[in-house]
Amino acid sequence: MENTEYMNRLAPVADNMPNTEPDRQRAYMALLKKYFSELSIKLGRPLTMCTVTFGCQMNARDSEKLSGILKEIGFISTESENADFVIYNTCTVRENANNKVYGHLGVLGNYKKKNPNMMIALCGCMMQEPQVVEKLKESYRFIDIIFGTHNLYKLAELIYNRIETENMVVEVLKDSTEIVEELPVDRKYPFKSGVNIMFGCNNFCSYCIVPYVRGREKSRTPEDIICEIEKLAADGVKEVMLLGQNVNSYGKNLANPVSFAELLKMVEKVEGIERIRFMTSHPKDLSEELIEVMAHSKKICRHFHLPLQSGSDKLLKVMNRHYTKERYLELVDKLKSAMPDISLTTDIIVGFPGETEEDFEETLDVVRKAGFDSAYTFIYSKRTGTPAAVMDNQVDEVVVKNRFDRLLAVVNEISHKLSFRFEGKDMEVLVEGPDDHDDRLLTGRMGNNMLVHFPGDRSLIGQIVNVHLDESKGFYYMGTMI
Ligand code: SAH
Ligand code: SF4
Ligand code: F3S
Repeated sequence: MENTEYMNRLAPVADNMPNTEPDRQRAYMALLKKYFSELSIKLGRPLTMCTVTFGCQMNARDSEKLSGILKEIGFISTESENADFVIYNTCTVRENANNKVYGHLGVLGNYKKKNPNMMIALCGCMMQEPQVVEKLKESYRFIDIIFGTHNLYKLAELIYNRIETENMVVEVLKDSTEIVEELPVDRKYPFKSGVNIMFGCNNFCSYCIVPYVRGREKSRTPEDIICEIEKLAADGVKEVMLLGQNVNSYGKNLANPVSFAELLKMVEKVEGIERIRFMTSHPKDLSEELIEVMAHSKKICRHFHLPLQSGSDKLLKVMNRHYTKERYLELVDKLKSAMPDISLTTDIIVGFPGETEEDFEETLDVVRKAGFDSAYTFIYSKRTGTPAAVMDNQVDEVVVKNRFDRLLAVVNEISHKLSFRFEGKDMEVLVEGPDDHDDRLLTGRMGNNMLVHFPGDRSLIGQIVNVHLDESKGFYYMGTMI
């Protein structure tokens, strides 16, 4: 095959690749750029790529890095999965996240039959599970590359290997201590960006698969983080979201330990950055220092996502969460007294093994007392390999569904009521884009993470403007620019 001949000609070059990162990947990118530009000329059209992201903000940020590498080697992005390079960046936090991927794969296989140049790569959390990779190797032979969460920076090298060997390339590492900086990133939004401050998780909540698929906690140095944020600011970014599974334990294992609150103070000083958000905070590590820094900050958004999971002390203990219902409510009080206008959101799991009606009532009680502006509610999903998966008191499906519906009703009622508290106020809004349903309107996000739709010109996209909130619609507002 012509392609192979070409790569064989390049093979000796690849033997002399630099051994240090990111130079090594840069060298592979340069090699592939030449290769794909010749392929593009031969085909008489540009080569397209599509990155499909499942799961959380961490995965969304990883996908921007993957797209950055593909763009660098000559692909242009498209929304269609009928593209020359398709990557599925997968999630496995719940069974349904997992099933979605298998559901899509058949369609990709059919596209590939019609486009022999197509390459399909699967990566992300699901690939860290050996049984998944086995299944893919057996039943989905058309996949070109499989890699995990620890080596996504190596995409260029893996593509090279795929072209070289003409076999499915599988490289999944159990864990890593290395953090590779300075690779290209293709941001989804010009005006806001996620910034990883740490990777992995050490908490081992008994239901959760994340520590197994993302590895142990590793913090980036404050210098690397600030340098990235300064570059983002220079590039027009106004809002950064600091990302980690438990940002409150940031920096504990660095050679020179730095607390999350201290990091926030450093980010605050970066000129050009007007808004700072973070995700996610574990209640067990939420410090007074953090509340204090937030309350005095002009840039940290008045929004706190504080996952509750359950209101039952008994279940919180079995979940390995290290806080009680009382402690959680105390933290909520502290946040609200320091910042009365703060908006509070949470995650709740229903149907954890052993959950009784009384346990569930405790959760409802916290929902009523805490006053969440919104809550992500999940039905407990058994994840192989986690301690909860082998607990013998799994809750009946019908009972769980009933509780889930009841919880949702209470959550919605409260968040609907709470949303009226901002009606009539003037708020700073970051204009994110045109309204999805009415193109005379713009959609903007307030610091408290709520959305407002208002008449305005598209030239304002990416700007921070003041908007009067005319009317609450329950989950969003209608407003007028002032
Ligand atoms: N690190 C974050 C959460 C990451 S996962 C934290 O600790 O808050 C996002 C949410 O998914 C969790 O907060 C939890 O509510 C939910 N989740 C995780 N594992 C789950 C499971 N096995 N079943 C149902 N929901 C789960
Ligand atoms: Fe999962 Fe708990 Fe880690 Fe969050 S803190 S990622 S819920 S183990
Ligand atoms: Fe899913 Fe992995 Fe995030 S399992 S929720 S994509 S860390």
